[in-house]
This record gives sequence, structure tokens and C-alpha cells, in this order.
Amino acid sequence: KRVAVLLSGRGSNMAALLDAAKDPAYPAEIAAVLSNRPDAGGLDTARAAGIEAVAIDHKLFASRAAHEAAVAAELTRIAPDIVCLAGYMRLLSQDFTDRFRGRMINIHPSLLPLFPGLHTHERVLAAGMRVHGCTVHFVTEVMDEGPIIAQAAIAVLPGDTPDALAARLIRAEHRLYAEALRLVASGRARMSGDRAVLSAPET
Ligand code: GRF
Repeated sequence: KRVAVLLSGRGSNMAALLDAAKDPAYPAEIAAVLSNRPDAGGLDTARAAGIEAVAIDHKLFASRAAHEAAVAAELTRIAPDIVCLAGYMRLLSQDFTDRFRGRMINIHPSLLPLFPGLHTHERVLAAGMRVHGCTVHFVTEVMDEGPIIAQAAIAVLPGDTPDALAARLIRAEHRLYAEALRLVASGRARMSGDRAVLSAPET
């Protein structure tokens, strides 16, 4: 399956997907990486790995809709089977999410439906949570909602700071995203109506 990754930052999750895709048995290949920020580190990482990396700077567009249309046009050219959001910090319209319904997934640094939105590590600590985690879900029109494909949990340790928690969680994110993309690309996770359906591995 051809995958396009949308990101806005350092792209460590994208790099984890690239790494997983080195295995010839992995069911997905990263065809291109798109960023709304031209200075995103993820673009350099992708280029260094020989992957097409395209910046579509949202500041150069008159409106949110015009920028999104440019991203959509680029995706039409790339023709991915699956779109992976990996730290893509732009809200998407319902037109866009409908177009990729069941074929677009996102990773979020919390155990959804707890803590959608930003600053999840701070909020987990402020709430006195003893566990934290990350979620990969199909993208629907509501941000950080949509059917859950896979989750991983980590313990909150005494003395944890937001940075310490983030540093431990990102390692779990990398493993989880590679596994979740494997499930989607192999057809073992799919969207059916409003639900995610997972089927057992073939034996
Ligand atoms: C990750 O924490 C991801 O869960 C969130 O944004 C961050 C992106 O990090 N959506 P990176 O760019 O993949 O390193």
C-alpha cells in the first residue's frame, strides 16, 4: 500500500514508519511526506531517506480552505492508498476527512477519548493520572475523535515532568504507529460505518 505522511514538525513518528517499511514483508511503503511548515525537520529526514518531501506553506495561502485544497491536489497527484497524520497541526475540513474516510489515520499522545487536543502530558499530570498513553485512530470530521485502532499505555512515575513523560511516551508511539499502520495496510483494521473493525491474524 502507498502511504503519504502529513506532518508539521520533527517527524519522529514518520521516521518510525519509514523504519518499519524497510522490512520487505511490511505491507506499506512511504511514497511521500507533506508538511505545512517548510522548516519541519521531518522533511529533511524524509529527503535523507530518498523519499519525496513537499512543503506546502500555509502562510502563503489566503485562507485555510485554499491551503487545504493545495494539500488535497498534491495528494491526488501522489495517489496514496493511506494517509498518515503524524504531528500534523492543521484542522481538516469535513470534505477532506470524508474523502479519506477509512483511509486516513492519526496518532495522538493520550489514551483517547481522554485528553483530546494539545498539551496532553501536562494535563495528564495535572489530573493526577497514574497511566498515560497514545492512540492511533481513523480520522473523522471531529479532531482527535474517530474509531480507535490501537492504543498503548505507560505508567506515570513519581516525579514525572511533562518532558520526561513525553520522552517515554514517544517511544511507545513509534512502536504503536508502525503496528497500527500494519493493521490498516494489511486490511486487518478497517472502518465499518462508524466503528473500527479488527480481524484476527491469519494462522
Ligand atoms: C507526537 O507526540 C504525536 O503523537 C503528536 O505530535 C507529536 C509529533 O511528534 N500528534 P513527531 O513529529 O512525530 O516527532
